[in-house]
Amino acid sequence: MKEVKIETTLQVYDDIHELPKALQDLMRTAIEARENAYAPYSKFNVGAAILLDNDSVVIGSNQENACFPSGLCAERTAIYYAGAKYPNAKILKMAITASSQNQVTDKPIPPCGACRQSIAEYEIKQEQPIEIYFMGAQGKVIKSSSLANLLPLLFESSVL
Ligand code: THU
Repeated sequence: MKEVKIETTLQVYDDIHELPKALQDLMRTAIEARENAYAPYSKFNVGAAILLDNDSVVIGSNQENACFPSGLCAERTAIYYAGAKYPNAKILKMAITASSQNQVTDKPIPPCGACRQSIAEYEIKQEQPIEIYFMGAQGKVIKSSSLANLLPLLFESSVL
């Protein structure tokens, strides 16, 4: 038996103002998208904005359903929209922001496991890392320089 250690390095920005200007703009687009979340059940709004290599920005927000599993997270709404609309474009960056309707969300909210797996699919397909930035409603912003960095031991198609 041998032990394997997996390390992850993330960058932590004090707040949105510390981000480079282009990233501030992308995060503000995610914040706007968050306002349009349909989250009557969880009262938890999430917005995502994706920058593509064709300079297009694609957005998504969480869309809930009375039949709970039928809803979809903001990140997957956005990435599937990007895949549907610009199938040949590469995804460069994704900004994510989340805000509870019940309390101040002041810590960074990372994408859930299912969203990480979904984003990983596109990162592998395009053979180029996707930068992920995530925050709450205010406060720190965390950057991961790739999706793989957030999902060690991910499931990939080479095993199929
Ligand atoms: N949600 C997202 O949109 N992204 C995530 O990564 C985690 C959770 C949404 C799903 C649901 O509408 C609400 O947040 C509460 O789980």
